[in-house]
Amino acid sequence: MDKLLIRGGKRLSGEIAISGAKNAALPILCAGLLTADTLQLSNVPLLQDVATMQKLLQQMGLAIEQQDGAVALCGRDVNKLEAPYEMVKTMRASILVLGPLLARFGEARVSLPGGCAIGSRPVDQHIKGLQAMGAEIRIEAGYIHARAMKLKGARIVTDMITVTGTENLLMAATLADGETVLDNAAREPEVTDLANLLVAMGAQIDGIGSDRLTVVGVPALHGASHSVIADRIETGTFMCAVAAAGGDVVLRHTRAHLLEAVVEKLREAGAIITAGDDWLRVQMSGRPKPVSFRTTEYPGFPTDMQAQVMALDCLADGTSRVTETIFENRYMHVQELNRLGAAIEIDGHTAIVHGVQKLVGAPVMATDLRASASLVIAGLAAEGETLVDRIYHLDRGYDRIEAKLSAVGADIERIR
Ligand code: EPU
Repeated sequence: MDKLLIRGGKRLSGEIAISGAKNAALPILCAGLLTADTLQLSNVPLLQDVATMQKLLQQMGLAIEQQDGAVALCGRDVNKLEAPYEMVKTMRASILVLGPLLARFGEARVSLPGGCAIGSRPVDQHIKGLQAMGAEIRIEAGYIHARAMKLKGARIVTDMITVTGTENLLMAATLADGETVLDNAAREPEVTDLANLLVAMGAQIDGIGSDRLTVVGVPALHGASHSVIADRIETGTFMCAVAAAGGDVVLRHTRAHLLEAVVEKLREAGAIITAGDDWLRVQMSGRPKPVSFRTTEYPGFPTDMQAQVMALDCLADGTSRVTETIFENRYMHVQELNRLGAAIEIDGHTAIVHGVQKLVGAPVMATDLRASASLVIAGLAAEGETLVDRIYHLDRGYDRIEAKLSAVGADIERIR
């Protein structure tokens, strides 16, 4: 199993190119199931989760050609309407094939994802929404069996805001009979990116970017070209790395607009952030100030940045309070950060972070994707050597993180 060895204490300086967003690329790849034509995608990040999704779609009969970040998908010969447990258990986002398969083929068989390291994460809202559109759904032997001669437009109000739930229902609605209104829809930029691709494919969607999406179904969708938006979480992760280790780094092919809540917090922590149309620059010197925050849906502070900003808070000159409201168990990084010398206590859904003067390197273990990123950030700022184990979590969602960090002066290497 690969590990990352980090010798901390190096200032970061230079430029990093930000990749396409994982959480936009995954639903967008699934949109390839909605048409018999070809989708030409660019800026697709080279990640384990993207490779897993492509493998799943190929098993279904989708033809995929890939060259670096360019991916062409052709859904003409899709014939296997199933996402097996072996795939879904390694990547929950596999649930995103359910809506498209049901809408285009009237049938789908998708394994139930089950729990994961950050919480129980049910998919009841995806199911409830599809049922409202007329699908018959049975759960049997761990699988969702869904059928519908033809989905019908419906008004759907989800019980909570769900990102992949909104994406699944949005894709399903594009080919349904009549009008679907999705209320309480997720407004994350990745949902908007998917919606923009669907419109380019011929879908009729109103309210893009708002919490009410109105979709008038069309008989068929056609091919389109689309460039995946920048990864705001990768952007935020590198911003935290600079804020924790100190330095001056320009992030290219990304926009501050995608993560204003995070930019605001990092400014409060003392970072100087300037931005242009497709870049942003982070400068930091000295000890960070403590920043308290609550995770919420977009445009609020993203749960996917909670662990990384907490790593910064560990070194702050004072105490901060971090409250996680999206997932019930997303504090797996706390014990590991404490092993590096942090002083964090958990009180229910809140972490109280007492800033310390310095962190000291130690062997630590990654438990999920964003927790791993927080350990890398802490390792870059710590004195001495930090060895991060189980970095397959990191490879799921970060495109060559160690190469990008080495290029700006970090002392980080992959041990195979
Ligand atoms: N929920 C339900 N029932 C549902 C759907 C969601 O109870 O049917 C609950 C979840 O358990 C959670 C909350 O609603 O407590 C929000 O979950 P959501 O459905 O929005 O999460 P998701 O769609 O499964 C996506 C991202 C996550 C990100 C969350 C929140 C993708 C592929 N994944 O997950 O990304 O944390 O939205 O923003 O888009 C990551 O990249 O590290 C990651 C975990």
